[in-house]
Amino acid sequence: MANIKFYKQGEMPLELHKVRVVQKLHLVPINRRLEAIEEAGFNTFRLNTKDVFLDMLTDSGVNAMSDNQVAAMFQADDAYAGSQSFFRLQKAVEDVLGKKFLLPVHQGRAAENVICRTFVKKGSVIPTNYHFTTTLAHVMENGGVIEELYHDRALVLHSDHPFKGNMDIDKLEACIQKHGAENIPFVRMEASTNLIGGQPFSIRNMMDVRGVCDKYGIMLVLDASLLGENAYLVMKREEAWKENSMADILKMMTNLADLVYFSARKLSSSRGGGICTNRRDLYMKMEALIPLFEGFLTYGGISVREIEAMAVGLYETLDETMISQSPSFIKYMVDTLDKAGVPVITPAGVLGAHIDAGTFCAHIPQCEYPAGALAAALYLVSGVRAMERGTVSSIRDENGNDVLADAELLRLAIPRRVFTLSQINYAIDRILWLYDNREMIGGLRFTYEPPVLRFFMGGLEATSDWPERLVAKFRKDFGDSL
Ligand code: F0G
Repeated sequence: MANIKFYKQGEMPLELHKVRVVQKLHLVPINRRLEAIEEAGFNTFRLNTKDVFLDMLTDSGVNAMSDNQVAAMFQADDAYAGSQSFFRLQKAVEDVLGKKFLLPVHQGRAAENVICRTFVKKGSVIPTNYHFTTTLAHVMENGGVIEELYHDRALVLHSDHPFKGNMDIDKLEACIQKHGAENIPFVRMEASTNLIGGQPFSIRNMMDVRGVCDKYGIMLVLDASLLGENAYLVMKREEAWKENSMADILKMMTNLADLVYFSARKLSSSRGGGICTNRRDLYMKMEALIPLFEGFLTYGGISVREIEAMAVGLYETLDETMISQSPSFIKYMVDTLDKAGVPVITPAGVLGAHIDAGTFCAHIPQCEYPAGALAAALYLVSGVRAMERGTVSSIRDENGNDVLADAELLRLAIPRRVFTLSQINYAIDRILWLYDNREMIGGLRFTYEPPVLRFFMGGLEATSDWPERLVAKFRKDFGDSL
């Protein structure tokens, strides 16, 4: 965000765009919110947005498009094969990400499907700075396992470490020694590591990872879904890159990887995804899977309108005023909550503000899903829909026991250019009230549990009548306020 100083207001983010299309929101009364969260099985994924006021579930596929993106959608070339829209996207990928070959896919996890089917086999080990839910599922689906090689300070929730997303280089060496390079089809680096709070890695770290990959002849794969924001934080936090442009930083990071994939629902504020590389051999290995799973090679299951928006959105990633908007709102939210004593992940990352639900709800045992309970409680008292990122989002071991998450997090995503500062302040206000009343929040238990990615559609119930009691306390404090 441009450096704009206020005369009397102190440090505050400022929107450098104007709103020209709006969508009416509904803040339904708290008694309806109680019914809605019960109907949704205490799982915020299952809420209907007619019952949601501020949708902070995700920043995926819900970002505001620019006027230029919407305009570009009108010139979409509807063709099954050889669409000009695809060639415009290919050019944008080459210009912004520096990769010549592009395989379009309908979203990020489809890229993971194609990559994992091609390179992962039974017994494969995938070292990564941290897993993402869908990546882990695809690696496991193909018989592989993930080894998380985060450094010792990555999971210290309250910290001033600028690059918690860095990979531990010694652990990477040890992992390769232990499993043998032949069993490691690739090393995966995830930009702005999602599940540990949208925390970036440094270019120095990625160069070191590349060095180890080169030493052992292992491919380096970059998950670039949150690359724009990682690049922005490199510019802000990494001394050696402070004077560089977004374009230079982005290219530097993608140049270090053999294969780059992304969810365009985040990167480029559109909908779709892609896999790109400069290596023809890698491209050729994956090419046949696109028509099989996605669509013809020049649309990959994406609408051509979205392809046009994606191309423009990729160029806009280079615009610092665009890319800084969400991180600066997140910083404002995190810093305000932190100052008020609410346990949040620091330093502020990207994608969203993350509350440390394990500390917020220290009285709820991890087997009763404190982050899931906090998500339900926050929805009840505010209509704000956040996302559980804790043990509900985890898996069960072979004995059917929960694999307890490293951290119980509640994520309040801040989609790009969607919310105003007063809406952010409303969310902060309700979190502060909830924090003062946190002892009233109780646990959850599963009533329905799908075998894979259970957090999406799983159903839970409260372990006591705590939701009703919380509603009564809200009424007492706020009277007839919604
Ligand atoms: N990689 C990362 C780092 C992601 O954050 C996501 C999606 C994906 C891959 C998969 O992409 O959704 O397009 O299939 N993250 C979303 C989120 C779902 O809410 O954080 P997708």
